[in-house]
Amino acid sequence: MAAQPTTRPTPTLARSRQLEMYRRACKTMPGGTDSNFRAWGEDTIYVDRGKGGRVWDIDGNEYIDLRMGYGPVILGHGDDRVDDYVNERMRRGVSFSLTSEDEVEALELVKELNPWVGKARMTVSGTEATMHAMRVARAYTGRTKIVKFEGQYHGVHDYALISVAPNNVADLGDEDNPVGLAWGRGIPEEIASTIIPARYNNIDRLRALFERQGRDIAAVIVEPVLGNAAGILPQPGFHKAMRALTEEFGILLIFDEVKTGFRFARGGAAEFFGITPDIATYAKAMGNGYPAAAFGGREEVMSVLPDKVSHGGTYAGNRIAAAAARKTLQILRDTDALETIHATGLRVQAGLKEKIDAKGLPFHFTGHPAMFSVMFTDTVATEYRDWANTDHELYDAVAVGMHARGAMPEPDSREPWFMCEAHAQGDIVDKVVTIFGESLDRALELRAQRRELPHQDDATWGKSPSSH
Ligand SMILES: Cc1ncc(COP(=O)(O)O)c(C=O)c1O
Repeated sequence: MAAQPTTRPTPTLARSRQLEMYRRACKTMPGGTDSNFRAWGEDTIYVDRGKGGRVWDIDGNEYIDLRMGYGPVILGHGDDRVDDYVNERMRRGVSFSLTSEDEVEALELVKELNPWVGKARMTVSGTEATMHAMRVARAYTGRTKIVKFEGQYHGVHDYALISVAPNNVADLGDEDNPVGLAWGRGIPEEIASTIIPARYNNIDRLRALFERQGRDIAAVIVEPVLGNAAGILPQPGFHKAMRALTEEFGILLIFDEVKTGFRFARGGAAEFFGITPDIATYAKAMGNGYPAAAFGGREEVMSVLPDKVSHGGTYAGNRIAAAAARKTLQILRDTDALETIHATGLRVQAGLKEKIDAKGLPFHFTGHPAMFSVMFTDTVATEYRDWANTDHELYDAVAVGMHARGAMPEPDSREPWFMCEAHAQGDIVDKVVTIFGESLDRALELRAQRRELPHQDDATWGKSPSSH
């Protein structure tokens, strides 16, 4: 008699229309997509629609969405409150290169929720927000260099793409002397050399760096948690010590709140960790998926605008983005959406913990219940280099298995799961936990049989780095 299988085999997703679309798209778009991060080879997903916490691809496969567009969709897809308001406003015209009340109100809300912000301006993307924040910091201090931490992602401009997330952490150089690793070609050496890579959670090394080069350093830019490296958390006291150190050396502190803003708390990670930076960048949750973004800072720092620093953009503060930000921020301010999201994240985590504990695997949650990752490891990761020592192959296999069973986290262990308000509805939490459990069972079974674990074809992530 055949032994009872311990797990059901991984279901197969319908893929015929997506494969056809992939082949068609590849004739026009490099990798068949508009972003390297979405280029998953023949597994590239072509979306049809989303509603609430769910998303459907063009083959009709339904998933509980745990990517939420890499974080922006904080309320849920197609949120009627936001969409109705945006629809009403867009009929008045979307692009004038003139300023609307929606923009003023949206940025007043940014200030209200982040009371330390004196002035702010809208941009269209997080990339632009960090680019302008760096320029403002350079203009204000009259210094050139910017410190960024290994494993942190601040968008796709040249100053941001240094020491981001190589697959091989050895590419980051010696632990005592990290190299500036440009992500891909085309970034001039002269620009890359203005960015100094540093190791997160290591205040002694930061002090030593400031003592050596502090007079040239305009700012430290930091994702308050490593939001693009599994949400690795600051050690107790790290942010406070970094704040004190930057003040001591006259260096500005830029909180890149593109992922954490309006998510960790209404006042973002600055409120959550009790830190007052000098400048912050916002995007993602600010507009529930519409392309709203901003940078803001202390009154004195922002006073370099408009006379001394260039900032503009045809679409900066466009009607759609401004209306979406106005409505989304009002909802986050006036309702208990964030409390619901946090509670839902905790429920999911409790369910996952049960499943993992049942297998006796060492693991940690990183990040925040609204944006968290599972790291299979028995030591707590404190910086990007530690990610390499986690069992990320197991994680990736579980994530791929989840897609086939109807839930969609990013199939890369470095990207956190994002919770939205709509995930609290119906049986979503229970389903996610069940799907995770089945996928974990299957991945462990494959490993026990010494078979190759499934993983996503990551066409570009971490490939072709060149160091400076
Ligand atoms: C922390 C952080 N900063 C900046 C960016 C860039 O934002 P955008 O993709 O809107 O350009 C991202 C995007 O994921 C991010 O996570």
